[in-house]
Amino acid sequence: MKYGSLKGTQDIFPPDVFIWQRVENTAKDVFASYGFQEVRVPIIESTDIFIRSIGETTDIVEKEMYTFSDKAGRSITLRPEGTAPVVRSYVQNHLYNLSSPQKFYYAGPMFRYERPQAGRFRQFYQIGVEAFGVEEPKIDAEILSMLKLFLERLGLTGLTFHVNSIGCEKCRPSYRKALHDFFSERIDGLCPDCKRRFDYNPLRILDCKVDACIKLREGAPVITAFLCDECKLHFNALLALLNMLAIPFVENPNMVRGLDYYTRTTFEVTSENLGAQNAVAAGGRYDRLVEDFGGPHTPAIGFAIGMERLTAIIKSLAKQEVPVPEVVIVTIGEDAGTKGLLIADRLRQEGVWVEVGYSGNSLKSQLRKADRLSSKYVLIIGDDELASGRLKWKRLSDGSQGEIPITEVYDFFK
Ligand code: HAM
Repeated sequence: MKYGSLKGTQDIFPPDVFIWQRVENTAKDVFASYGFQEVRVPIIESTDIFIRSIGETTDIVEKEMYTFSDKAGRSITLRPEGTAPVVRSYVQNHLYNLSSPQKFYYAGPMFRYERPQAGRFRQFYQIGVEAFGVEEPKIDAEILSMLKLFLERLGLTGLTFHVNSIGCEKCRPSYRKALHDFFSERIDGLCPDCKRRFDYNPLRILDCKVDACIKLREGAPVITAFLCDECKLHFNALLALLNMLAIPFVENPNMVRGLDYYTRTTFEVTSENLGAQNAVAAGGRYDRLVEDFGGPHTPAIGFAIGMERLTAIIKSLAKQEVPVPEVVIVTIGEDAGTKGLLIADRLRQEGVWVEVGYSGNSLKSQLRKADRLSSKYVLIIGDDELASGRLKWKRLSDGSQGEIPITEVYDFFK
């Protein structure tokens, strides 16, 4: 073969693509009942947008962005995630002037130059949601309930909802100091990146994927012990609502997210049906980001689902139903072939999936095609049928057959 796809990318075609379509349709339906509407934002953005929001010392910004200069020398980045572009759009289009909350969802490819492995791609797809303008924990609970309903609709089980609060700009400094003190005794063992992060952003050490750093952070102070009164109140209220809504969760004070924009609530949904990359969805609050992008103070919260991981779970659960044609029209001879095309055309206008045979295909090979496609019916047209005006049909599931006048064929299949 002359050309191959790039490492960490993949083609999605039938039958897998049917799972993708089902996931997208389910998302659309479930999100609609919570009032989330679609937004489509560009795949390329100014690099600054991501540096500013995700954070300079994160793995994404330090190592994983697909950044290039365009012909005018502007620094452009293929979006590594969807929150920053949606916030950029929210601010740029003054959507904060509309009634609150504004609730959006999006679906599409994201790009991160990561080491590809099972469940980790360089071009991967997310379905994400973002809700702007509500401070109270009620919307955090709604978002989690929506995610749970969505995953349940798709038949997923064995999920764990990890919930944490990572505080706000008021509580973060004392936590940073505690982390700094903790790691100052261990700095020699940290990886070069974390040695650098130690001064700028010790929180990022908690998210490092290097084994030595994972070991060294055992016993590190946890953020929940440092929350200010408001953050504590918010977090406890959320936990009470989750209980009320019967959303099972575990508090996971060690869960820090790999993006700097989060404040207060963060969460991740893991699946026992995945390997090392077991997070199917993740998100949290980012109450400062709209302001950082030049908008008014606007609290916000969202999440994103990893499509490759989600569809992998669905695929492992049960045999998937694939769509099949309603009827294959098998024709013998040129006149019958033309008549078959006309019938197919009329049926297709009624929304019926019809396949036809092509010249040169023997009767046997056309019947084999019907079998291979698992069509529900075959319709046979030859010279005799044309002369009598009656067509032979056969139902492949039980072998039953019969005849119908050509004039009734549309009603029969409709
Ligand atoms: P994230 O945790 O970076 O968050 O990604 C969300 C999900 O995308 C992950 O849980 C995972 O399922 C999937 N994912 C991430 N990287 C890869 C990859 N390389 N290959 C395959 N799947 C991947 C965000 O992106 C935030 N924007 C989520 C958010 C929205 N927070 C607030 N609003």
